[in-house]
Amino acid sequence: MTVRVGVVGVGNIGTSHALNLARVVSGSAVSVLFDADADRAAALAADLGARIVPTVPAVFQADDVDAVLLASPDGVHAEQLLLGLPAGKPVLCEKPLATTEADARAVLDAEVARGQRLVQLGFMRRFDPGYVQLKQELTAEGIGEPLVVHNVHRNTSAPYGLETERTLTNMVVHELDICRWLLDEEYASVMVVAGRPGPLTPGGQHDPILVVLRSASGVVVEVEAFANAQYGYEVVCRVTGSHGQAVLGDGAFITRSKGFARGVDLPELWLGRFAEAYRLQLQGWVDALHGGHAFPGATAWDGFAATVVASCAVEAYRTGGWVDVVLPPRPELYSGAAVGASS
Ligand SMILES: NC(=O)c1ccc[n+]([C@@H]2O[C@H](COP(=O)([O-])OP(=O)(O)OC[C@H]3O[C@@H](n4cnc5c(N)ncnc54)[C@H](O)[C@@H]3O)[C@@H](O)[C@H]2O)c1
Repeated sequence: MTVRVGVVGVGNIGTSHALNLARVVSGSAVSVLFDADADRAAALAADLGARIVPTVPAVFQADDVDAVLLASPDGVHAEQLLLGLPAGKPVLCEKPLATTEADARAVLDAEVARGQRLVQLGFMRRFDPGYVQLKQELTAEGIGEPLVVHNVHRNTSAPYGLETERTLTNMVVHELDICRWLLDEEYASVMVVAGRPGPLTPGGQHDPILVVLRSASGVVVEVEAFANAQYGYEVVCRVTGSHGQAVLGDGAFITRSKGFARGVDLPELWLGRFAEAYRLQLQGWVDALHGGHAFPGATAWDGFAATVVASCAVEAYRTGGWVDVVLPPRPELYSGAAVGASS
């Protein structure tokens, strides 16, 4: 059996996912596409032998769609999930689940009311071989108890225009999820330090910024985010533990020595750094749909938790102080899916 996927939103990442599902992932095909830009959807549909439909509900309701991949802009994820959930089909939704806590809560409540875990989140770093190895280091045999996690996240340029609050909800949300997964615990509080903006930062905005969090057990997590770094795309995660340190940097790339210099090439976009993670995430999703078992990645609860922390970070940025992170009890539907679950 082939899982026939309908794709909503075929920009940068939606096109990459559609190509992977059609040509790389085993056991899947792309049958239906929708994009607000109908010409863009039509061009990709012609390439993939798929058809286009005129609305989002038409994707979810199509007889030739078994599951939906949502890769539309951040601000419409929640409303499109609420439109689609009644069709009862599994959805892999790009991060973030929503841009506000209220919208994320509405999706979580709708899924809990159905009593079915249909929504998965595209926090693909959970599938990145480097992050998986880093998680394995956080044991007594590895670097011991984690004490401090320092992250660096740099985009070549801000893909959707530079707004500091969007840096928090769109970009830093990756670290909010992956450090929660690495540490297997929730956050207790967050603050944001905004320093001197660079000359390319629009008036009233801050870039780079430093996000500082304390986990429930007291681990300090820092995220140094620079949305308009110009020199390339880069992600670093350095965990200092009780018995050692583990650093995930640009290890995915070769070091070249030439002309009396030594260095590595940096990718321009996340698609270069995380290509394998995107593929493994899609394969894991399709395999889970075939096998009828739970997807090994992020759930709607994980997406909700990340959005709550991002919303607290937005409040911390606005107020300049520490903000406590308060999550409601995890609904029973998600029990057995510990925040750090990787299988
Ligand atoms: N997991 C990751 O690493 C990662 C990387 C990039 C983007 N993303 C996420 O994927 C989503 C898409 O990002 P992108 O970089 O591809 O953006 P993009 O701007 O390249 O593409 C967005 C597409 O959505 C279409 N669109 C606009 N409004 C729509 C609507 N209401 N319904 C359906 N389609 C609509 C646009 O025409 C465009 O084709 C965002 O939520 C982003 O945060 C995740």
